[in-house]
Amino acid sequence: MAKNSGAVVRAGPNDGIGCLAVRTAGTAARVLVCVIAALSVRAAHAGTDPATDYLLHCAGCHQRDGSGLPRSGIPSMVGNVGHFLRSASGRAFLVQVPGTAHSPLSDAQVAALLNWMLARFSAAQLPRDAAPYTAAEVTRLRGIALRDLPAARRAIVAELAAQGIVVR
Ligand code: HEC
Repeated sequence: MAKNSGAVVRAGPNDGIGCLAVRTAGTAARVLVCVIAALSVRAAHAGTDPATDYLLHCAGCHQRDGSGLPRSGIPSMVGNVGHFLRSASGRAFLVQVPGTAHSPLSDAQVAALLNWMLARFSAAQLPRDAAPYTAAEVTRLRGIALRDLPAARRAIVAELAAQGIVVR
């Protein structure tokens, strides 16, 4: 009865490359499916490493060293981005900017990435008692769209200026 269900006719050796030859009953067509186990393990790992996520998803605009392209409107994060954690809306802003919010990364990956970026590019500006971002926090903040990004940033910069903190 199960005419169209594939039947596994051969499995490859256990050398990291597994191949399955599947014969489709109806057409007698053969499909060879190879899974390169070693590579897929490495790819899965890359997605969970914040330094790699930064290189893949952010560095194209923000540069490897976080210096951005200020003349083209991409702010430098170096010695700067940590200041945002002194304001609740600043903390939310780092999640809600389009580059972060619309990245293909999961909320847990975004949390790890922001924590990594802050330590990497702006450790000296971080408040001592700053709590790290969590996946749950990213889930909550990411769902709230920034209506007017430049105005939101200006308001945060003004709020921090009132605390004597200069954001570039
Ligand atoms: C296509 C270019 C581009 C990519 C890719 C990108 N960004 Fe951005 N980012 C910008 C621009 C431009 C701004 C300035 C605000 C705006 O216009 O969106 C910005 C602003 C920011 C800010 C606020 C900095 C400040 O001082 O206001 C953060 C934080 C940020 N991006 C994080 C990220 C992260 C994290 C990623 C990767 C997951 C990322 N961005 C990917 C272009 C990009």
